[in-house]
Amino acid sequence: MAATAISFINIKGGVGKTACVVNIGAILAKKHKKKVLIVDLDPQSSSSLWLLNPKQYIKHTQNNCLSVKILFDDRINGNHNFQFDKIAIKGVPISLEGNPHIPNLHLLPASPRLFITEDEIYRNKESLYFEYLYLGLQPYYNKYDYILFDCPPNMYSITKNAIFASEHCIVPSVPDFLSLAGIKILANLLRDFTSSVNTEYSGRPVTTISAAIISHYRSNVIDQGTQIGELKSKFLQLKDKRLISPNAPVLEPSIRLCAAVAASTSEHLPVILHKPRANGAIDYQKLTADFLKYF
Ligand SMILES: Nc1ncnc2c1ncn2[C@@H]1O[C@H](COP(=O)(O)OP(=O)(O)OP(=O)(O)O)[C@@H](O)[C@H]1O
Ligand SMILES: [Mg+2]
Repeated sequence: MAATAISFINIKGGVGKTACVVNIGAILAKKHKKKVLIVDLDPQSSSSLWLLNPKQYIKHTQNNCLSVKILFDDRINGNHNFQFDKIAIKGVPISLEGNPHIPNLHLLPASPRLFITEDEIYRNKESLYFEYLYLGLQPYYNKYDYILFDCPPNMYSITKNAIFASEHCIVPSVPDFLSLAGIKILANLLRDFTSSVNTEYSGRPVTTISAAIISHYRSNVIDQGTQIGELKSKFLQLKDKRLISPNAPVLEPSIRLCAAVAASTSEHLPVILHKPRANGAIDYQKLTADFLKYF
């Protein structure tokens, strides 16, 4: 059976997209024994920096040799250099002794040079530019239970490639006014893009927002409860306007602001391995159980 492919998107930056991909991916693989591929599509390379040790990161990004950028380069330049088995790191993160902590968690790393890919796709002016990623990864869909795309904070060409390659979009958000305002803009942009795709010809599903996740939740700040209420009512309004899927949940629980999650990035570990008893580890495990009810 083909993987369930999900893009984690938000035009707003710093809302927990990468943290969700890394931690949900790790829990699906470690606790629920799923085969998971994380595809890092952000030139910032946050999930690659998080899950790889510095040596591995340099190996995979230096001279742009072993990253997902090659997949895009092939499509743009007509090359055949993308070798999934060479580029995907099978079993991340790696322990100090050199063994994979989670053998069934795989990573297709990003490269900062993906910034150039955006320009190249634009200059190339090919009408089906948004199919590149799906066409490159299609042969590997049946090797995984889940493919999770960590997207940059925009709706440019690379994000559109992720959406086309996905059945679902999940929107991580933080409970504040500007983030909530951004969800409506995002839902409209997503609808504009998906309605421009000829699904009959492409055979791909019409991707919609299938869930939201609240991150960076501070339970001691009264206003946060109000913002979460606003998010839920915004979700209902967007469902009425058919801008998001009618069954889309706000996954529970909200992920609390937690120092251990932030600290786990520089330890190159998902929080369940870094501090298994921290609030962030507990929240992400419960959230992943909720995720499994829907996906
Ligand atoms: N639950 C949490 N508690 C505390 N810090 C967190 C939590 N989740 C993420 N962070 C930190 O917040 C910052 C933003 O998180 P993250 O990188 O996941 O967001 P993002 O949406 O992927 O950002 P970008 O749009 O830049 O890709 C990071 O420094 C991360 O370490
Ligand atoms: Mg990110």
